[in-house]
Parts: sequence; C-alpha cells; structure tokens
Amino acid sequence: MQRVCYLHIDHEPFQFKVEGNFFWGKQVLLYEKENNILSKVNWESEGYKCVNAFENNEFENLKQSIKHVIIGALKANDILVDESTFSLANYHEYVTDDELHNKIINITRNLEVSDFDFDIDILAKRFGKILGYRLTSWVEELQKSHIQIRISRPDSLDINPPHRDGYLSYWEDIVNVWLPIEGCNNKSSLPVLPGSHLLPENEILRTESKGAKINGNIYYVPCILETKSGVMQMIRPNPKEGEALLFTPFLIHGSAINQNKHITRISLELRFPKVKD
Ligand SMILES: [Fe+2]
Repeated sequence: MQRVCYLHIDHEPFQFKVEGNFFWGKQVLLYEKENNILSKVNWESEGYKCVNAFENNEFENLKQSIKHVIIGALKANDILVDESTFSLANYHEYVTDDELHNKIINITRNLEVSDFDFDIDILAKRFGKILGYRLTSWVEELQKSHIQIRISRPDSLDINPPHRDGYLSYWEDIVNVWLPIEGCNNKSSLPVLPGSHLLPENEILRTESKGAKINGNIYYVPCILETKSGVMQMIRPNPKEGEALLFTPFLIHGSAINQNKHITRISLELRFPKVKD
C-alpha cells in the first residue's frame, strides 16, 4: 500500500511516498533499561549525543581514504575521474542518474575496515570510555565489522526511511556511530527523534523488515511512518567535523534529506557492540 510519510525536521515539514504494509505493534518496550549501553550516561533519556571522535590528523586521513574508495567505485563503473580535481562535495556532478548511483552504493555498502586507512578500534576504545562499557568493532552475528559510507546527492531521495536499527537482532546491543565527512550541516545532517527509544511498540506505526520501498529502493530496516503523537518532530543534532553522533539503536532516525543545492553529503556509519563479560 502506498502511503505518504509526513515529518518535521527542525520544524520544517517534509513528505515523501513510501510503499509498504504498516501496523501498530504490541504493548512492549524493546529498549532494555538494565545494563543498557546508555545506562551510565546522563543523556540516556535523549538517546543521543555529539561527542569528540578524532585527534590530530585522524579525520583528514579518514576523509582522504573515503575519497579514494569513492574514486575507485567511480572508476569501477567506467567514470572518468581526475583525482587532482575531484572533491567529495561534487560527487553529483559525476553521478548524474539513479542507476549509476545505485551501482556506486552497491560498492560502498559492502566495504571492510581494511578498505580504509583507519584504526576503527581507537574509536571503539574512545566511545567505550564515554559510555563506561568496553566496546568492540566486531559484530559476532555478522562475522565482520560494520562500516558504511552514506552518500546523499543534493535534491534527491537518497534517504533511509525513519527507522530503528534495533529491530534487527544483530543491532540490539550496540551503539550507533554517525560521522560527518563532507557537506554535513544544518540542511543535511542526520535527523533523530529525541527520546523515541522510550516509545513502546503500540505507539509506533511501522512496516516489517525489508517491507518499505522509497523511490524504488527496498530498505532492510522497517520504515516508521508515525508515532502515537502524530507527525514526528525530528531534529538534526548536526555534529561538527571531527565529532561523532552517538545514539542508541532504538532511537528513531533517518530521512536525512539533503537540502543543500550544490553539495553532496557524505557520512560514515559504524556500529560497536558491547563486549559481553
Ligand atoms: Fe540506521
């Protein structure tokens, strides 16, 4: 069934079409309050926080290696790229149709940490210190680490629907990490719904996993259409370069519409499971 997803981002209304079967859940709170990854921080009720992530030249090195990965993906699709003039912000000038973009993100969604010049475990350690739990980058159920480049072209529907990662079993006990890389600002940064991890399922209207289609693309995560309070009032925490947005996998997030007219937005997402003692 085709529905329209209405939401506000920083008080501005947005809407887009979603195909899927939507249902209200049972009267159960999936967010476990005991020994949760956010149990020891004073921002648990908000569910998210911008924190420092990088030191010295770590951010620049990571950004350079993301640039190399994307240039590699362009070349793999026979796109001519002059490496000395290519910038991540101009990605949309090279990738001018959805078909090519889908081929590129097929590459960027299947990357390994070894594709980057990046010490992922330094970040796991730093964020573990902030949260008061030991974290690892290794996701046992998937038998790999998770690292994914997100690319959002200007004036596009290169977005995830509003969702919770925690609906997928392997993301139940992790911390979500969202890192701004290029073009992330108050018009493009990832929106979240503050406090939404504390909503029970009967207050959420959503699809099943792999049950939502936007602009022809099917998403793994269930799409959340609305909550009992009606249209979702999302905000963009907008972490600065060198910072990370940390959040619980039960926080509703997504629909990162890029309102910049001429800048492609690039971000990196990581997920760190809690080490089981
Ligand atoms: Fe997500």
